[in-house]
Amino acid sequence: MSNIPLVDLKAQYRSVRGEIDEAIRETLESAAFIMGSRVSDFERAFADFCGARFGIATSSGTTALHMALIGAGIGAGDEVITPSHTFIATAEAICHCGATPVFIDVDPETMCLDPEQIEPAITPRTKAIVPVHIWGQLADMGAICEVAQRHGLRVIEDAAQAHGAELNGRRAGTLGDFGCFSFFPGKNLGACGDGGMVTTDDEGQAHRLRLLVNHGRHTKYEHEMIGYNYRLDALQGAILSVKLRHLEEWTQARRRLARRYSERLADVDGISAPVERRGHVYHLYVIQCDDRDALARALSEEGIASGIHYPIPLHLQPCFSHLPSAGRGRFPVTERVVDRILSLPIYPEMTDEQQDRVVRVIREHLAR
Ligand SMILES: Cc1ncc(COP(=O)(O)O)c(C=O)c1O
Repeated sequence: MSNIPLVDLKAQYRSVRGEIDEAIRETLESAAFIMGSRVSDFERAFADFCGARFGIATSSGTTALHMALIGAGIGAGDEVITPSHTFIATAEAICHCGATPVFIDVDPETMCLDPEQIEPAITPRTKAIVPVHIWGQLADMGAICEVAQRHGLRVIEDAAQAHGAELNGRRAGTLGDFGCFSFFPGKNLGACGDGGMVTTDDEGQAHRLRLLVNHGRHTKYEHEMIGYNYRLDALQGAILSVKLRHLEEWTQARRRLARRYSERLADVDGISAPVERRGHVYHLYVIQCDDRDALARALSEEGIASGIHYPIPLHLQPCFSHLPSAGRGRFPVTERVVDRILSLPIYPEMTDEQQDRVVRVIREHLAR
């Protein structure tokens, strides 16, 4: 019996091989590898997909966050509120601006930033909030933006895991001042390498960030500002344009598989399925259970991969131990849940038979 991976990028490639190979061949033949229409066409298409006015392609999700924070005017001495339960890049980008991440706890059902926790964390230095649409589900953007507005704070969505997540006709990336996406290969829309995008409706910011990602250059040798080399390369732009055409159908497949998991695990004692509240696109399907490590071992013995996203919250990371919001015991929800979460295999190409095998192993393990 073959192994079941957490995400099957080989199967994805096989499903779109002709289109991808053609896009790569055309780019190689054009020899236009930096900037150009393959990047700008993808920026336009992805911004349209999100419903944003502008998209600025970047070299990764991390650099997208860095750019958006700069766009929001974040700098030395500022504080930025963000959940402790996220990937390190969310807080790294805040630090890259010279600002301080201020961690807060998450909502126990969705594991996204808990809006109730924002106000007590605000100080005169607070400039922005970075909610994370973790695992593919939108944070409570209505409540978050309401607090932000009341206190004059900017909102930067970390939508690295939430391409196309939608609520009331509005998609991730259009709910704050800026949206930041990652195209890391395993993401719902993944490049064949690194990539990212900032979305915004602000024309002036879009212009500024477009210069910043490309050495602040106005023309080839005229640099209006000191910038970065944070460009997305043309090969990735061409590949991502192809994959974007399939994203809607891939998201539907993820949602169907998530529904199927939830139906088949509903009566299993000792497991809770993810709670779907706000436009979930199931980048990850994360269950909670008491003896998570034993279950992960049982799956692994049957050739089934699983993951933990993420095992060490940011307020317990050695690199952040100097921060005022660091230290054990501060965020009870995050600290409890990180020992219980387990990400099960989910990817659009997963077959019902593969999924049934995952469910069977879980049921057998928990019946012991
Ligand atoms: C929540 C979150 N934020 C930021 C990032 C950073 O994206 P990248 O790996 O493309 O730099 C990721 C992806 O790994 C992520 O999952």
